[in-house]
Amino acid sequence: MSSADDKPKAAPAPAAKDGPAAGDGAAKAAAPAAPIDPAAAEAALKEFERELAAADEPRAAAPPSPKVGTPGPKPAPAAPAKATDERSAARVTGGAVLKPLAPAQPTPIVVFDKVTKSYGNFTAIKDVSFRIDDHPGRGEMVPILGPSGCGKSTVIRLIAGLAPQFPQTSGTVLVGGQIVKGPGADRGMVFQDYTSFDHRTVLENIAFGLECRGVGKRERLDRAMVWLGKVGLSPKKDADKYPSELSGGMRQRVAIARTLILEPKIILMDEPFGALDPPTRARMQDLLIELWREQSPTVFFITHSVEEAVYLGDHVLIFSSSPGTILKEVKVAPPEKPAKEMQRDPAFQETVFGIKEIIENLESSQRSGD
Ligand SMILES: Nc1ncnc2c1ncn2[C@@H]1O[C@H](COP(=O)(O)OP(=O)(O)OP(=O)(O)O)[C@@H](O)[C@H]1O
Ligand SMILES: [Mg+2]
Repeated sequence: MSSADDKPKAAPAPAAKDGPAAGDGAAKAAAPAAPIDPAAAEAALKEFERELAAADEPRAAAPPSPKVGTPGPKPAPAAPAKATDERSAARVTGGAVLKPLAPAQPTPIVVFDKVTKSYGNFTAIKDVSFRIDDHPGRGEMVPILGPSGCGKSTVIRLIAGLAPQFPQTSGTVLVGGQIVKGPGADRGMVFQDYTSFDHRTVLENIAFGLECRGVGKRERLDRAMVWLGKVGLSPKKDADKYPSELSGGMRQRVAIARTLILEPKIILMDEPFGALDPPTRARMQDLLIELWREQSPTVFFITHSVEEAVYLGDHVLIFSSSPGTILKEVKVAPPEKPAKEMQRDPAFQETVFGIKEIIENLESSQRSGD
């Protein structure tokens, strides 16, 4: 297999690296056995769930993360309070009083529990724990901020189940309540260098993941053409171009279309807009928001830009320098206006300033050994 074959094959559905079946089947082939004791993992999960249950009451009264900025309306309400009230209210049926049901708990979609990754004597991330809840019909944007080399790519590649970061050295990574055993169709990755197949046209690149899933040629090319338009490329002018004929921004649109066409529940983006000029970057941010609202996935999004994290984010994870640990989790208001407009807003700038201050304070307190 040529190196040109190796890289992009992992992009639409990481499992494709080891075979044509991008998804569940390939997960078996691609996954090196994780050195995880299933009994220990189960015990860790139970323990984690106990901790969460114990923490839920006080959490409702006082949120753990500072709420920076003014929360705006979400694209869709998360958990309808009415349903919870109805469920928890005592009901009388034929004279028998039914016990109130416990209020519905949000289900975690990704959980890290004390995850450490070491290479020999070097520890890349240490005891990383966080929980991201599933929000059906709404999704969530989870920007990851942190200095270069702190382990951001390591974290999202562990979620993707991609070697050599996967498997972790210790701790538990759960996706949808299951221990990650390798790549899967529920997760799609957009890589830092947005690779494509050089010998495939734009349309064929976008259709690649569907081809791996055995979708017929006519259907996959039709669907790819729809996605080509959705990411703002021209079906007439761009469909038959090769990647070498595209600008960086256009290549990135192809990479995003190639991942989103598969409608993964979790999208993992490693600095997807890092190489773009500011206006193209702002347009891509708005495009991402638009597509995210359409599909409602949970999106993990690595960035070095606090502005980008605040604009795109719901739940920001801030990492320390190496070995990476979580310094802080911050909830921010969702994007309400186009990127260019929102980033001029004084409230937005205040939020950015607040997060920059949190990072500076935490870093300086770490340096002084607090
Ligand atoms: N296969 C590997 N072998 C040894 N060390 C590795 C390997 N992969 C990553 N590392 C190291 O782990 C640390 C974390 O790497 P990672 O790529 O996760 O950082 P990052 O936060 O994504 O950095 P950047 O912002 O520069 O992309 C780095 O010091 C890196 O050199
Ligand atoms: Mg990285």
